[in-house]
Amino acid sequence: MANTAIIGTQWGDEGKGKLVDALAGNFDIVARSAGGSNAGHTIVVNGTKYVFHLLPSGLLHKEAIGVVGNGTVVHLPSLIEEIEELESNGLDVVNRVKLSDRAHMLLDYHKEIDGKIEKLKGGDKVGTTKQGIGPCYTDKAMRIGIRVGEIRDTDALKKRIEENCEFHNKALGLKLNAEEELAKIETVRDRILPLITDTRRWINEQIGKGKKVLFEGAQAHHLDIDHGTYPYVTSSSVTIGGVCTGLGIAPKYVGNVIGITKAYTTRVGEGPFEAELDNELGEQIREAGGEYGATTGRPRRCGWLDARAVAESVLINGIDEINLTKLDVLTGLPEIKVLTSEGYKTFQGWEDDISGVRDFAALPAAAQHYVDSIEKMFSAKISSIGVGPDREALIFRK
Ligand code: GDP
Ligand code: IMO
Ligand code: MG
Repeated sequence: MANTAIIGTQWGDEGKGKLVDALAGNFDIVARSAGGSNAGHTIVVNGTKYVFHLLPSGLLHKEAIGVVGNGTVVHLPSLIEEIEELESNGLDVVNRVKLSDRAHMLLDYHKEIDGKIEKLKGGDKVGTTKQGIGPCYTDKAMRIGIRVGEIRDTDALKKRIEENCEFHNKALGLKLNAEEELAKIETVRDRILPLITDTRRWINEQIGKGKKVLFEGAQAHHLDIDHGTYPYVTSSSVTIGGVCTGLGIAPKYVGNVIGITKAYTTRVGEGPFEAELDNELGEQIREAGGEYGATTGRPRRCGWLDARAVAESVLINGIDEINLTKLDVLTGLPEIKVLTSEGYKTFQGWEDDISGVRDFAALPAAAQHYVDSIEKMFSAKISSIGVGPDREALIFRK
């Protein structure tokens, strides 16, 4: 299998983690290139649920090496917590994580600033995950950010944190405490140091040796800082270009691009959502799909599939094939709508439970017709279909 990138084609939570987990056995390395703990990727294996925020979801496979690339923003205590939680489930993780020395350090004060800025924006707030993502990338772009590699020199780090606290206190009228921040980092310092790697060099060496990489996208096309529904977006490049800058690899090493598309649409936070069902039907879909945020627990806004949004993602990211997820959630609806450039198209629903189906031809005719029709609207082949949360609940289509 060629190196493969997994990209969300909507507003996040399409089920990227599940496909990463399902494919990871075919790869040596699973790498994250952007974002931070705003992501929440849920994987279900034999009924056991795992939630990944910063670590690549592919780590459930015992041989996989997880890379947290230079384009990410990392809250170090949370990273350690996530590693320890997986280890408490019997997985050996700590020896399989490589953390970029150039990733930006997300401090607790970034979370505080996130909350403060959202409050200042009032009715125009973004509805962020309050994980400090925007403020950390702001520091990076303002060229005052602190990189993970700087943890190596405690005295220099102390000075940098003090300077930044002073800066933010002046700019935003906060009372950030540099000593508290440093003390928190010191508690995880010894566990972080062995993970730090020049991941750019390492990953290029591995590719040179013929090792295969799965690039695990977080967030999604329409949350991208350039291509999304700005300003209701996250603060990083989560589309295909971000894979290269966020890991330091050349475009020629990204072989195949798989887009992940939910059979309907969800969105958390504020921002435009034309196909939204802000009514009982939307609630019914939310309950059937368990549409509550894995990071914040917020109810996700639900609506019909917006085929225009997916087609745009296919175009901009050069998507070769699509994994359609959560088709099972639509079971029982009398009719299903899809928003297209000409308006809504209405499809007949189906009644039969499809969660046990593993063969496309065994799906009800109406479900097959829905998949065949939206595939044409996307201009990309739907190569696999999710019919349940479990790793096995996938239909591969020739
Ligand atoms: P991600 O952020 O894109 O990885 O997606 P999330 O994990 O935040 O949200 C997707 C949710 O849907 C998770 O709870 C998954 O376990 C679940 N899920 C994924 N694929 C399917 C599917 O095909 N059917 C159903 N019913 N649930 C799914
Ligand atoms: P995964 O990887 C869904 C949304 C937030 C908010 C906006 C900005 O699980 O698909 P941020 O905290 O990034 O500054 O918030 O982006 N958002 C997500 N929505 N899934 C995600 O990640 C998200 N990450 C950020 O809800 O609207
Ligand atoms: Mg998610």
